Amino acid sequence: MAFTRFSLLVPCIVSILLGLARGSAVDVQRRDQFLPARVPYVLPAPGTDPIADAIRERRGNGTLLALDGALLNAPLVAQGWNQFFTVIRENLTIPGDMRELFILRTAALNKAAYQWGQHESVGRAEGLTTRQLQILRLTPPGVLTHTEQKILGDKLAAAVAFADAITTSVHVPDHVYHNLARFLSNKQMVEAVSTAGSYAFVSRFTVALNVDGLMNALVPVP
Ligand SMILES: *[C@@H]1O[C@H](CO)[C@@H](O)[C@H](O)[C@H]1NC(C)=O
Ligand SMILES: *[C@@H]1O[C@H](CO)[C@@H](O)[C@H](O)[C@H]1NC(C)=O
Repeated sequence: MAFTRFSLLVPCIVSILLGLARGSAVDVQRRDQFLPARVPYVLPAPGTDPIADAIRERRGNGTLLALDGALLNAPLVAQGWNQFFTVIRENLTIPGDMRELFILRTAALNKAAYQWGQHESVGRAEGLTTRQLQILRLTPPGVLTHTEQKILGDKLAAAVAFADAITTSVHVPDHVYHNLARFLSNKQMVEAVSTAGSYAFVSRFTVALNVDGLMNALVPVP
């Protein structure tokens, strides 16, 4: 299909030019690994696009992700996304393991393999154990066993129940809300809702646009 070949070609050419310009083998290799999305990747060269440069600054290695290439089809959406998710990733006061739990649980429930793939290592770095990650990936919504609750601890178990309700039904029952609120301030409850809610958006974005070709991929099991 012409469209598919075109969308493959653009990131390849861009990455080769970028790699030559910056003398970097890493960029070429990483960009060549993107699989086609439903839109072409827009990857402006460094120094040519202030919005792309601002996103680059936040990313590891100063390299745009497949997600960024999809977002940059709509530059103002990409800009607003970058500002908002900088806050979610860097400026919340909820614990880092709980933040990543919301992100990973949302990815698992929404079958969003790209989102899980980007965040499993972040979750581990924030202290989530392999056993806890397996629970987030494998346990059906709303049915944590007693053993699973013990492995998570009261605080993270409350966060899973909250993530399950807000993700699967939008309506969070009072007891689920108040069980999490035992551990968090009002400010942190707003942060919790914002994290779980915004990563439901990330799931929808990455799956509906087939970012990195992963819309039908199985979410990895840790
Ligand atoms: C930076 O690039 C290296 C080499 O490709 C890779 O192993 C590493 O995961 C990258 N770091 C980030 C934060 O993306
Ligand atoms: C957000 O967090 C970053 C990284 O820790 C920090 O540099 C920045 O000052 C924070 N921004 C605000 C407005 O607190």
